[in-house]
Amino acid sequence: MADKKFTITAALPYANGPLHLGHVAGVYLPSDIFARFARLNGDDVLFVCGSDEHGAAITLRAKKEGITPQEIVDKYHSIISTSFSKFNISFDIYHRTSSEVHHQTSQDFFKKLQERAKFIEETTDQYYDLEFNQFLADRYIIGTCPKCSYENAFGDQCEKCGSDLSPLDLINPISTLSGKQPVLKSTSHWYLPMDKHEDWLKEYIQKGIFDGQTHHNPKLWRNQVVGQCMSWINGGLKPRAMTRDLDWGVKVPLPNSEGKVLYVWLDAPIGYISATKAWAEKNKKDWKKYWVKSESEERKLVHFIGKDNIVFHAIIFPILLKDHGDFILPDNVPASEFLNLEGDKFSTSRNWAVWLHEYLENYPDKEDELKYVLTSIAPESKDSEFTWKEYQARINNELADILGNFINRTLVLTHKYYGGKVPACGALTETDKELINDIQQTPFRIAELIYAYKFREAQTEAMSLARLGNKYLADQEPWKLIKTDPERVKTILNLSIQITANLALVFQPFLPKTAIRLQTILGVTFSSWGYAGTTSLIAENHEINKPEILFAKIDDEFVYNEVNKLKNQNDETHEI
Ligand code: MF3
Ligand code: ZN
Repeated sequence: MADKKFTITAALPYANGPLHLGHVAGVYLPSDIFARFARLNGDDVLFVCGSDEHGAAITLRAKKEGITPQEIVDKYHSIISTSFSKFNISFDIYHRTSSEVHHQTSQDFFKKLQERAKFIEETTDQYYDLEFNQFLADRYIIGTCPKCSYENAFGDQCEKCGSDLSPLDLINPISTLSGKQPVLKSTSHWYLPMDKHEDWLKEYIQKGIFDGQTHHNPKLWRNQVVGQCMSWINGGLKPRAMTRDLDWGVKVPLPNSEGKVLYVWLDAPIGYISATKAWAEKNKKDWKKYWVKSESEERKLVHFIGKDNIVFHAIIFPILLKDHGDFILPDNVPASEFLNLEGDKFSTSRNWAVWLHEYLENYPDKEDELKYVLTSIAPESKDSEFTWKEYQARINNELADILGNFINRTLVLTHKYYGGKVPACGALTETDKELINDIQQTPFRIAELIYAYKFREAQTEAMSLARLGNKYLADQEPWKLIKTDPERVKTILNLSIQITANLALVFQPFLPKTAIRLQTILGVTFSSWGYAGTTSLIAENHEINKPEILFAKIDDEFVYNEVNKLKNQNDETHEI
């Protein structure tokens, strides 16, 4: 029986460009660690993602590349989904919002809300580009933010201060299609009256209680998420249009709505539901068990996102789910801060980025190294920075010198003294007992940290087990004792092998490939977290395979080349 039931979602990336390390560190890696851990721990897990294929992000990209929106989403959906599978992100499904089931699901969702009178239909004046004959919303319009004076704020959101905006809020609005000043023209849309939801939202965010049924622990919500939500709510929520005058997107499923599509931020999160449906269909499961409220079972919905997505997942989507009526609400929304790169922001337009697909092409066998480094510096509670220098240092000083070194010493000595057969554990000293106690505690600490969405610390805990092992070997000096007290050496190496086996288990969520490699060397398979912490994981006389070097060191030239590559690709974009 599963302990807990989790529907885990990772923000659907726009299919308008490849993924860079910022996306990976902030969203896809932490969600993958959580999903892998929860599965290993016996929870019932569904982990979904997919490409976000609608919205101005797509159509504007298509315009820029001079191809159709369909060609854009096909191109990038393929690049992105290939990167995810090469990088071993363990989605149960990687879906796409252009699919039939998604269009159907989001239209049904919209209709249900319409039937339940959850929208207000209103005709207002909206900005219109006379040259392109198009209404301008969201990224089609930029202007100065009324809150922070940032000059390139979008029609829906200021990326500088995070305020949510409507085009009419912008000072000096400019069409991003023609670069000209727009005119006003009347049009009708369906609005979500968010202002009517402030009271329960406040309670939901603060106390984490909804309808007296779902309780989450508010202490586990990250400060910045609660902070951002409360500042929006306290600033007063405004009705937000849930439809757009565009021809790319999910058609509004109502009569007399020609030329109107659903707002991308309405359809995209519903993409989590349609992905679940597609998965369920294929695997003969019931999608409802992961979305619909149940009296008899606690079902937790967790959204992994970047901080620019907070309002959509912690305010708008919960309103939509509640208005719909049957669904669970997010139990937590672990949003990340931003990752910077070599002293600057990641930027697609300036090509200041390390692209995941390029990294994987260049270093197909260094996937876990990247995972380790990105988790070590994950922007969980504040912005952080990736540098190749730190990449080198983390790999050399931690993966190679601590984890790799401990395992290698243990395995080499076991082969040297016992021909690869695990020696028996004899009488325990006080030091051994302390060690065993530490080994026992580690998985509990890791589990607690992961369930609290603290992946950096959790990985540090896992690494501390290798540190412990290194220290144990250094203090005990079995290579000296072998001459004077060979019986004692058996116990030391037995315990070191048990630590190695524990490492193969506790690193599974973080370094899945390495963990499997290590299990192969040890000649064992661990499929349950429940075994972690014991010192009888490997039986006496069990034969282990020959060791291999798990992590190669990174030299200075590697770092130099990577930093140069970055500078050159950045210079090239300036020339264009
Ligand atoms: N595509 C959006 C972004 O990249 C995220 C969409 S998340 C979803 O910012 F829930 F709406 F799908
Ligand atoms: Zn602003």
